Amino acid sequence: MTEPFLIGESMTGGYGRGADILHDCTIAVNPGEIAVIVGPNGAGKSTAMKAVFGMLNIHKGSVRLDGEDITHLSPQDRVAKGMAFVPQTSNIFTSLTVEENLEMGAFLRRYDIRVTMEQIFDLFPILRDKRKQAAGELSGGQRQQVAVGRALMTQPKVLMLDEPTAGVSPIVMDELFDRIIEVARTGISILMVEQNARQALEIADRGYVLVQGANRFTDTGAALLANADVRKSFLGG
Ligand SMILES: Nc1ncnc2c1ncn2[C@@H]1O[C@H](COP(=O)(O)OP(=O)(O)O)[C@@H](O)[C@H]1O
Ligand SMILES: [Mg+2]
Repeated sequence: MTEPFLIGESMTGGYGRGADILHDCTIAVNPGEIAVIVGPNGAGKSTAMKAVFGMLNIHKGSVRLDGEDITHLSPQDRVAKGMAFVPQTSNIFTSLTVEENLEMGAFLRRYDIRVTMEQIFDLFPILRDKRKQAAGELSGGQRQQVAVGRALMTQPKVLMLDEPTAGVSPIVMDELFDRIIEVARTGISILMVEQNARQALEIADRGYVLVQGANRFTDTGAALLANADVRKSFLGG
């Protein structure tokens, strides 16, 4: 297999001096692809995302981006290399307006911020209407749009999303997945954790089922959805 664009390979590590949470865990994604991580609560999905983004020390394995070893780079340096991460919680500034949130996302950039912001407003038109409102006044689905939009302000090559549809209705979830597909079609790599496993695997080029910090199943989204063991244990039959 050729080297994927982004890969966290054989990652082993945990928090501080605590026990390892990840065990030889491998996650990868290519440009224009959607890779989805699913698995039970506490499986280490968020931890795997943090490891790929440099928020966790791994003592075995490596993270590589476009062929470069970035294992020891800080999250800030990874952002400068084209990675963007939307964490599971506290992913917007609620007291700032929508527009201010998007501006914060562009802190590393000096030029063309308006152009990028217009692209984000084209992707999420409701944010254009609400741009002067405090983000904290928006609905759950709209807040997630702000969080994704803020990440896109850095014009990333890789967009990492930890449970972007948490707490939203099925309709809002479908809508958000459609927008994520649209972003992937522009050539951006999407690496996403999802608890709506079945729906997320439907749009996944690659799927990872994590259990206790290790890869249990890895395949295309379609193949995982068709796998009887995966269905029985992780997709409710
Ligand atoms: N900041 C942290 N410090 C110490 N342990 C943590 C921290 N965050 C998560 N953990 C532990 O790591 C394990 C995996 O958690 P997490 O990656 O959040 O799982 P998931 O996202 O799959 O639900 C759990 O046992 C959890 O208690
Ligand atoms: Mg999590």
